[in-house]
Order: sequence, then structure tokens, then C-alpha cells
Amino acid sequence: MKFNLNSILLFASTASAFKYERLDKNDALLIILDLQEGLFQVARDFDHVSYRNAMYAHAELGKVFDLPVIMTSSAETGPNGPLPNEFLEWYPTAPLIKRQGEVNAWDNADFKNAVIAANKSQIIIGGITTDVCTAFLALSLVDAGYSVWANVESSGTTTELIRDTSNDRMRAAGVNVISYFHIVCELMRDWRNTPGAEQLFGVLDRYYPVYGMLARGHRGAVNNGTVLPGEDGLP
Ligand SMILES: *[C@@H]1O[C@H](CO)[C@@H](O)[C@H](O)[C@H]1NC(C)=O
Ligand SMILES: *[C@@H]1O[C@H](CO)[C@@H](O)[C@H](O)[C@H]1NC(C)=O
Repeated sequence: MKFNLNSILLFASTASAFKYERLDKNDALLIILDLQEGLFQVARDFDHVSYRNAMYAHAELGKVFDLPVIMTSSAETGPNGPLPNEFLEWYPTAPLIKRQGEVNAWDNADFKNAVIAANKSQIIIGGITTDVCTAFLALSLVDAGYSVWANVESSGTTTELIRDTSNDRMRAAGVNVISYFHIVCELMRDWRNTPGAEQLFGVLDRYYPVYGMLARGHRGAVNNGTVLPGEDGLP
């Protein structure tokens, strides 16, 4: 590959334009957005077992990292249904704004005031649906000057095409579209922190079982493992 001066300059300018902002547990607010029992049926771009897991994983982030939480639901006495009781039990004192008609949560004055009152710069969201609930709020929050983090696993919609299109739209607007494990590790920063390995292995065992099983396997090997003859001969 040949480089000319222009391409090097272009590369240098795009490289320096990027600024890595990390999630910080002291600056973050968690929003549980329309993760309602009726709307769960609409989330068809993931396997329903994985999606249920991702939705609960998202909602529990507030407990795990002691983040302020705001919950909101849309027309919950209709077919959209209520938020799962577990979420209400986890956050008995968090604001819960039951919207009666506003599709974009930002259009509801109580919700908007709750976000402003939380006084946090980084907002982590996940909602059903990705193309409407999550995207509309994410775009409004970016417009209002917040740094927005969309948990890509905890928002659901009807098809993968719709999900991808919505995530593209959010990314183009500057929303950070990221995974659950990305959120956990950026908030944690270092396994030696609190919360760190000691508090998080149990959470990961529930919601990110590949890591929970890794830890269990390691525990099994340390507590009562034997190196097999074939393993012994490996380089
Ligand atoms: C909002 O947060 C900033 C930065 O953490 C802090 O300096 C300020 O005092 C806070 N304002 C209120 C009203 O709590
Ligand atoms: C350790 O492994 C041996 C051999 O498989 C087994 O007989 C024994 O019960 C194990 N001990 C514990 C504490 O798991």
C-alpha cells in the first residue's frame, strides 16, 4: 500500500479528532426505558431467552454500580403492560415516570426534570423499541448536550434490519452504541476496585455466563484439578 502526503495528513487529522471518553460510575445515570412486560413480545431481533437476560442485566446495573436510576413506562395500563416487579423492588425510591402518551420520553416534563435533577453527564439507556423508544430519547439527549450510551443488547425491536438501521442513526448522531460487558468493564475499570472482581463475578455468572463459567472452571481447576497426560505434553 502506498501512502501519499495527503492520505497521511488525512489520517493524522482523523486520528487526533477522536477523543476516548470512558464511562465513569460517578458521572453516570441509568435509564430503564419502556422495558415493559407487554412490549417484551415486540423484541424479536434477539432470542427471547437472551433478550430477557440482557434486559435484566441492564436494569440491575444501577444496583451493581450504585448508579442513580430513572424508570419510565409508556401507557402501561394498555397492552404495553407494566415494568417487571423486580425492577420496582430494586429501586423503590427511584423516579418512575408513567407516560400517558409521549412517545419520546424527553417530551414528558416530569421525565426531563428528573434527568436534569440527577445532574449526571453520562446517560446509559436501553428500551423497547430500539427504533423508537431508545433512538428518540438518545437523539434528544445528545441534542441536549448529554453523552449517551445505548446498551445494544438491552434494546429490542422487530427485525435485525430495523435494529441495525436504528443503531446506525444513533451512532451517526454521536451515541455510543456498546455492549453490556463494555459497560460493566468501563464502569469497573480495574478488577481490584470495589465493585471489582469480588462483587462482579456473581453478577457476570448470572448475566454473562461465559465469564461466570470461566471463573467456575478456574476455581474447579485450582481446588481439585489434575493435569492430564496429554495436557502435560503441550508446549
Ligand atoms: C452537578 O454536578 C457538578 C459536577 O459533578 C457539581 O459540581 C455541581 O455542584 C452539581 N450541581 C448540583 C445542583 O448538585
Ligand atoms: C477431587 O477429584 C477426585 C477425582 O475426580 C474426586 O474423587 C474427589 O471427590 C474430588 N474432591 C473434591 C473436593 O471435589
